[in-house]
Amino acid sequence: MKHSEYSVIIVGSGAAGLYAALKLSSQINLPDGILLLTKSNLGESNSRYAQGGIVGVVHQNPQDSVDLHVKDTLKAGAGLSDEKVTQYISEASDVVINDLINFGVDFDKDDSGNINFTLEAAHSYRRILHVGGDATGKGITSALAKKVLDDKNITVVENAIATELLISTDNSCKGLIMYNSLTNEHEIIYSSATVLATGGVGQLYKYTTNPAGATGDGIALAYNAGAIIQDMEFVQFHPTALALSPESKNRFLISEAVRGEGAKLVHQNGEEFMSKYHDKRELAPRDVVTRAIYNEMQMMHTDNMYLNATVIEGSKLLRRFPTISKCCKENGIDITKMSIPVAPAAHYTMGGIKATVEGRTSISGLYAIGEVASTGLHGANRLASNSLLECVVCAYELTDYLSFANLEAPKIIDDNILKTIKLYEVPISENDYNISKLKQNLKELMWNNVGILRNETGLLEAKKCLEKFKSEFKRNRKCFNKDEYEYRNMLIAAELVIESALNRKESRGAHSRTDYNSMLDTATHTQLISINKKEDREFSLC
Ligand code: FAD
Ligand code: SIN
Repeated sequence: MKHSEYSVIIVGSGAAGLYAALKLSSQINLPDGILLLTKSNLGESNSRYAQGGIVGVVHQNPQDSVDLHVKDTLKAGAGLSDEKVTQYISEASDVVINDLINFGVDFDKDDSGNINFTLEAAHSYRRILHVGGDATGKGITSALAKKVLDDKNITVVENAIATELLISTDNSCKGLIMYNSLTNEHEIIYSSATVLATGGVGQLYKYTTNPAGATGDGIALAYNAGAIIQDMEFVQFHPTALALSPESKNRFLISEAVRGEGAKLVHQNGEEFMSKYHDKRELAPRDVVTRAIYNEMQMMHTDNMYLNATVIEGSKLLRRFPTISKCCKENGIDITKMSIPVAPAAHYTMGGIKATVEGRTSISGLYAIGEVASTGLHGANRLASNSLLECVVCAYELTDYLSFANLEAPKIIDDNILKTIKLYEVPISENDYNISKLKQNLKELMWNNVGILRNETGLLEAKKCLEKFKSEFKRNRKCFNKDEYEYRNMLIAAELVIESALNRKESRGAHSRTDYNSMLDTATHTQLISINKKEDREFSLC
């Protein structure tokens, strides 16, 4: 099989991967260069679709403070956020925001040139910076991607999917296997440091705000490699995704910032309902608003509730939310005159690969940053706009860490000291799996049994169905194409969510169990580690 060597491999080109590549390139001498591989086009990611913004705690906003931001984050996290990690990330926000500005990110400003801040749920201050009104992700990823393409130290490979990590018998990561979905070729890449920036698992669910690539790949790869995976039961459902019909599955987000600017949640007849659920009404923590909408939908036997943004002055609304108003208009909704049909959708993965703020995981040489990682910042429920902040702070800290790490040159590793058992070269391309149908069945199962509300009976049924899905898919395949790798990863990630949800016999943050509806006195993390049974490893490879 073809092989090559790089000092650092970064997998994923969202905010975390792009920013890490630029920081590493500008701050460390890496003689074998940086490989940035990404399974679609450069910049295609969850990050690209971020709307609301990024938290900038004290940036030109003297009323705010790190302490207040930490307090809000810990409160939303329902007792499971790590205070030290939160403090650290919050304190670093000013530095990274300035850095993003230096990399060309053009945050929105008022007529006097001061940055405009917005408000989102459960924040006690207007501390969120945005770009192009509601196109923050596009603003950040396109500025960073442009710099990456100009950087001679960074080799970008698009349409390339990391399929397996190379783990040596001393339990360190030596690189990965990459599959190029255009050429159908596999390649071994050896590296001194391997960074997963592959995002979350939103595509596990029937309704999601996440684009197609959010299939939990990094989490599945790291689990197969023996890394500790943490808090996977905490999947955040965003309350307000555009719900045109039950058939519209990949749902366009209607940013929380619309509620931050004053929009109200209503029934079809215009009646408001949030005061029944929380004193902060529309700006209650995200899990509370999601359950409130879900409950109203169930009581009224409807597929959606409505967001009334007409209470915001028309020209301000259009100026502030150009992307949202355009998408709604294309679907026949004039947001200055009509309420927007909305319903919850899977949005963010609080759990993931257990990692430090510098991205270190339980496997040496393997790093995880951004949504794929679980640093302890988000606890049981992420505070809005904290994730882009976490992506950039962790990429920044990773660079700092690696600059002192004395990286050895990447080495070609003899097959027999790799734990990875067998390498296959050519995917069997017969179309005997209808992958989109298989994915759809899994997504339906996860939505119905492992969704906004859970109970033991539903979770056990999901576990049983998943075993069936796995054995049906396993058969004798030696090597997959891109869709099949993704489906394999989704099965692994789904298993982790189900197992963790079964383990947590309480309701906390986004994990809501109808059979254990109170919170235990002590907050503990759920951790899963692959027991590396031979059949599991075979499943991971074939
Ligand atoms: P991603 O941006 O998801 O990037 C992952 C990358 O990895 C992609 O390029 C993907 O193609 C690649 N990849 C995945 N698997 C593989 C593989 N096996 N091989 C190769 N490449 C792979 N957060 C905020 O803070 N503020 C917001 O306003 C906000 N709005 C949001 C709006 C929407 C619609 C969504 C979906 C999310 C939003 N979030 C927001 C969450 C936030 O965008 C994400 O958590 C964050 O951007 C994740 O960044 P990341 O770099 O970790 O991962
Ligand atoms: C939004 O704009 O509502 C999304 C913000 C986030 O997920 O942080």
